[in-house]
Amino acid sequence: MFYDSQARLKSGAALPLPFNPFKALVAPRPIGWISTLSPDGHVNLAPYSYFQAVADSPDIVMFSATPELEIQSRSQGVGFGARRKHSELNAQSSGEFVCNIVAADQAKLMNATSAHLPAQVSESEQAGIVMAPSNKLKTPRVAACPAAIECIFLESRPVPKRGGDHIYHMVFGEVVGIHIDDQFIEAGRVNTRAMQVLTRMGYDEYAVLEKTFSMSRPDNDPILDGMLKS
Ligand SMILES: Cc1cc2nc3c(=O)[nH]c(=O)nc-3n(C[C@H](O)[C@H](O)[C@H](O)COP(=O)(O)O)c2cc1C
Repeated sequence: MFYDSQARLKSGAALPLPFNPFKALVAPRPIGWISTLSPDGHVNLAPYSYFQAVADSPDIVMFSATPELEIQSRSQGVGFGARRKHSELNAQSSGEFVCNIVAADQAKLMNATSAHLPAQVSESEQAGIVMAPSNKLKTPRVAACPAAIECIFLESRPVPKRGGDHIYHMVFGEVVGIHIDDQFIEAGRVNTRAMQVLTRMGYDEYAVLEKTFSMSRPDNDPILDGMLKS
């Protein structure tokens, strides 16, 4: 079958699937469970699965956020408003954010923190999530996560789109430190599989990272190989 992604954006177009298959195919996606501090000191916590590592010299991550959903009118229903999400706004105002890595047994807590709460209500407090101090940032991290990545905010920019700015904004951060639960370090390497990392698929589906294998690149240059493993 062929799914016409452009037709999906036109109202009334006949489509062969009831839901857009895009996210089920660019899957699994890591989840950045983003903690930030609001200007008045409230801890904000929310999951973002448009989240990725985008460079490693220095290490850079990004998460991509829509504006807040708003009721637009009786006839139009709910749509994107002008207000940006708290994670983006707080990262901009505080100049920092933490990407907490979610383990499978934290799935329900993570999901609970995606609730749309007012800025002065802390999702972590609301869900009873214990936070721990970061090393280089004022923003705390989720204490029970297998890992947490401390980031300095770099910039927030619209995701490009043909015919104007996209509603999504990419929020970039430079990694300044990484917390790793010691139980997941073996012979100087992180055992990602043992962390049982939760990932996002399409629709309401998730996957747990459980099966891994090793493979060297074809140009078996020992110097390059050492660099790739670093
Ligand atoms: C697993 C998961 C992944 C999500 N990924 C995104 C995302 O990539 N971008 C986004 O804008 N919202 C995403 N959301 C929705 C936000 O978490 C939700 O809008 C949240 O209320 C934003 O909170 P904030 O305003 O405190 O940042 C996701 C929700 C879940 C449960």
